[in-house]
Amino acid sequence: MATSAAPYLPDDRSLDSLAAAASSCHGCSLYKDASQTVFGHGRPDAPIMLVGEQPGDREDVEGLPFVGPAGRLLARALDDAGIDPELTYQTNAVKHFKFTRKQGKRRIHQKPSRTEVVACQPWLLCEIEAVRPEVIVCLGATAAQSLLGTAFRVTAHRGEVLHLPVDLDMHVEPEPRVVATVHPSAIVRDRSERRQENYASFVDDLRSARSGLAAV
Ligand code: URA
Repeated sequence: MATSAAPYLPDDRSLDSLAAAASSCHGCSLYKDASQTVFGHGRPDAPIMLVGEQPGDREDVEGLPFVGPAGRLLARALDDAGIDPELTYQTNAVKHFKFTRKQGKRRIHQKPSRTEVVACQPWLLCEIEAVRPEVIVCLGATAAQSLLGTAFRVTAHRGEVLHLPVDLDMHVEPEPRVVATVHPSAIVRDRSERRQENYASFVDDLRSARSGLAAV
């Protein structure tokens, strides 16, 4: 069993052609249980690329990223940060939903393994090269570690303006900035008394990603 999407990459690296090729990716075993590949979606020349972890239950059914509860919170936070969603391209580090079944019924999200994140990374890097965003926002540790390395800690560096590491060997001009923050589902699940504060910090991180953008 191959554990990389690399053999599935098309010669033509346009978003449409990448999405078509990704729909039959068997680069790891997650395709077996998922309903479909959920490729990125949004403006093909978006100045802001938002990268989540993996599609959730709704995304797996609808075939689009961020259409479930986390996506609704993200949409509200973008609005509060003054970011027009039309200026974003939304995608995930892993393109298939990974889950277990509770009592054979409800599908419960499972975190993708490092092997699965690495296997799927070629799609994400190609999306970055195709969209050439001014800023990439990593939503949560899985996205951040896919692009910034396994030693990266969101808690230590959230909201900071960073760059893609050179060892990713990316060919993107001008070089995108990278900002990492928490995953919106962490706020959806947050039942603590600090929820409002945590939501406000998330919006602040999105604002810091937006600052300095040419067109926003
Ligand atoms: N969580 C993610 O990381 N991505 C989605 O698309 C939906 C939920």
